[in-house]
Amino acid sequence: MLVHHQLQQLLEIAKPRTLLAAAATVRQAVAGAAPDRGRALEHYGAMAGSYELRTVSGDQWRRQLVLNLAPRPGEVILDVGCGTGRNFEPIQQRIGPGGRLIGIEQSPEMLERAHALVQRRGWTNVELVCASAEEAAIPATADAALLCGVHDVMRSPAALANVLQHVREGGRIVAGGAKWVPWRRSGAVSLNLSTWKLNRECVSTFEGFQRPWSRLNALLPGLHVEEMYFGGGYIASATRSSGATRSGVWRTR
Ligand SMILES: C[S@@+](CC[C@H](N)C(=O)[O-])C[C@H]1O[C@@H](n2cnc3c(N)ncnc32)[C@H](O)[C@@H]1O
Repeated sequence: MLVHHQLQQLLEIAKPRTLLAAAATVRQAVAGAAPDRGRALEHYGAMAGSYELRTVSGDQWRRQLVLNLAPRPGEVILDVGCGTGRNFEPIQQRIGPGGRLIGIEQSPEMLERAHALVQRRGWTNVELVCASAEEAAIPATADAALLCGVHDVMRSPAALANVLQHVREGGRIVAGGAKWVPWRRSGAVSLNLSTWKLNRECVSTFEGFQRPWSRLNALLPGLHVEEMYFGGGYIASATRSSGATRSGVWRTR
């Protein structure tokens, strides 16, 4: 028997606008569409003001990612696609005033909020870079990099290469976010529908949403991946070791 929320979801799917949007998602995923920077900028420009409220349910998840990153006092940390700076506080608590936090974010509207947070908290060890992760001039070599809820970055080899070139040997990389629950799993359609609704404005492509970490894994063999929430989320972690990086990927310094 259908429970109430499943019935609501089915009614929602049946709406013509939802059907069109879902069909576009399928087309885009099948075609393997690359991230679309223009669309991402447009979406985040429009939702910057409501972003934190809309994604507050992800706070526990964010805390888990920072725990896995395990920033230490005095370290240099990259927060890639830092958005409004939702991860700054727990990172700051760990690195302390002797550390350095570098936020990279391509949406000026999102970064403006991150900047306001830094001002409010009086943090003097935070640098914000308004640029795409592909092109950002990252001002330091970091001890660790966080990629929290940044599917577009995870699907961009150029962005990943730029980030990894700025993580020291022995440095840590932790990435995490939403993914499709394997379609054969019971309840997958209903779970993936919720995931799609939550994420459709946060990603510009669903390409690679089955294994969002696959491009990172191509650069960092030995990536450890943990799936959570019945397969609807993941955390991928690795240590950058010189011997373990794939040849041809790294620019020589
Ligand atoms: C879902 S939000 C996550 C924000 C933040 N990490 C958090 O946990 O709340 C994704 C962010 O990544 C940014 N972003 C997407 N593609 C990017 C890219 N190629 N370079 C830099 N930032 C990007 C978006 O503008 C957006 O602020």
